Amino acid sequence: MLRKSIPVILFVLSGGVAATEARAVPDPQRGELLYSTHCIACHSTQIHWRDKKLARDYQSLLAEVGRWQKLGGLGWNDEDISAVARYLNTLHYHYPAP
Ligand code: HEC
Repeated sequence: MLRKSIPVILFVLSGGVAATEARAVPDPQRGELLYSTHCIACHSTQIHWRDKKLARDYQSLLAEVGRWQKLGGLGWNDEDISAVARYLNTLHYHYPAP
């Protein structure tokens, strides 16, 4: 009984992974989802409002997002980084973005 169901379980699991990867199309909610999943734990909105901002323009915002995902060992690609930078930019910074 158990022996028979293992291949079925494996099939379902691998199908699930494939479906997740196929959905890796950039959409506006992706940055928000990534940020609220991985970053918000030790961030209050204050970090993005304070006077002595590290992110002084869109490029340095992008660099900060890249730095933080690296510190967290998240392995984001450029698309993920720019999705989160755009999300934060829309929400807090309002720098001219390319
Ligand atoms: C371990 C806690 C922690 C996590 C997790 C974290 N941050 Fe931060 N973040 C900070 C702190 C603290 C600062 C302020 C750093 C400083 O002043 O040098 C900061 C600063 C920043 C800034 C610069 C803000 C500014 O304008 O001065 C950005 C952008 C940022 N984080 C993005 C992210 C992103 C994106 C993630 C998720 C990948 C993330 N952070 C995860 C703690 C964290």
